Amino acid sequence: MKALVLAGGSGTRLRPITHTSAKQLVPVANKPVLFYGLEAIAETGIREVGLVVGDTQAEIESAVGDGSAFGLRVTYLRQEAPLGLAHAVLIARDFLGDEDFVMYLGDNFIVGGITDLVDTFARTRPAAQILLTKVGDPRQFGVAELDLEGRVVGLEEKPARPKSDLALVGVYLFSPAVHAAVAELRPSWRGELEITDAIQWLIEADLQVESTLISGYWKDTGNVTDMLEVNRLVLESLEPRVDGLVDDSSELVGRVVVEPGAVVERSRVVGPVIVGAGTRVQDSYVGPFTSVGADCVVAGSEIEYSIVLPRASITGVGRIESSLIGHDVEVTASLNTPKAHRLVLGDHSKVQIGT
Ligand code: G1P
Repeated sequence: MKALVLAGGSGTRLRPITHTSAKQLVPVANKPVLFYGLEAIAETGIREVGLVVGDTQAEIESAVGDGSAFGLRVTYLRQEAPLGLAHAVLIARDFLGDEDFVMYLGDNFIVGGITDLVDTFARTRPAAQILLTKVGDPRQFGVAELDLEGRVVGLEEKPARPKSDLALVGVYLFSPAVHAAVAELRPSWRGELEITDAIQWLIEADLQVESTLISGYWKDTGNVTDMLEVNRLVLESLEPRVDGLVDDSSELVGRVVVEPGAVVERSRVVGPVIVGAGTRVQDSYVGPFTSVGADCVVAGSEIEYSIVLPRASITGVGRIESSLIGHDVEVTASLNTPKAHRLVLGDHSKVQIGT
């Protein structure tokens, strides 16, 4: 069995962070979301991965390399334009050959891995196996309709009037039967070859399509709240570790990771928190569910329930909560603005905040 991992697309829903960074590399607990997917694939025993990339190929390639760090062999497959998930299957035809494969969308985050799922598929070998999860707004997803016995009877991509609240999760298992379906597709209203339509084709051809309901699923809906939530979830199982320097006038409470080269001085850090390599925390409070990336500065400030990307600096700004702060952002003090701040800052932003 092989894996096809999709890491193209422009990430419009996570702008401005994705103006300068591939959406699959947005970090969760200081690790790109794509890496969790690659690790889940490696855990199943699959070795051969086709990584479909677009405009952000260089960035993805420099992060993933040849895949050996994950125990995988990665082949890069260039998709010239974001023409849809089924288009990705089309261009991967030679790579996939006649093997079964798991297709994994690189911006999806699934708790608990996919090993059981892959094992069941390999044993039962339906034409396709999909994952479904209940979502608040199904209109943003592919949506499944089930009959009374729980069989999938229909699928629709981003319907205006969803027939259920069961969304297609971005992990699909396919037998080579899908290639015939993909070859027949016409572009949808959004100009893409939809994998949802390919699975609908399999259903109409009376081929077996199985579904599994899961919980613990997250996707970049552009909703920063979701990102902070998945960051919280991952930080909850952090193994505490101090590889950097913590001075005697600082206090670490609970699950705290201080990466090599990081320095914590005259500060209080209440976990779960991760302080990235080379980061300086001085005269500050870092509260629960915060990931501070590498080479950041947090000085004379308080921050809680937030994600800070590499090389950002936050100095003298009182308290920050529930915020996502991009690469190289500078947050500094200014006078006469209210004390509470809630921020979503793009890469290279410069913001002045009242003290
Ligand atoms: C794609 C699929 C959709 C699925 C979603 C899961 O949407 O088309 O059916 O529910 O991934 O992440 P897109 O990311 O293209 O909007």
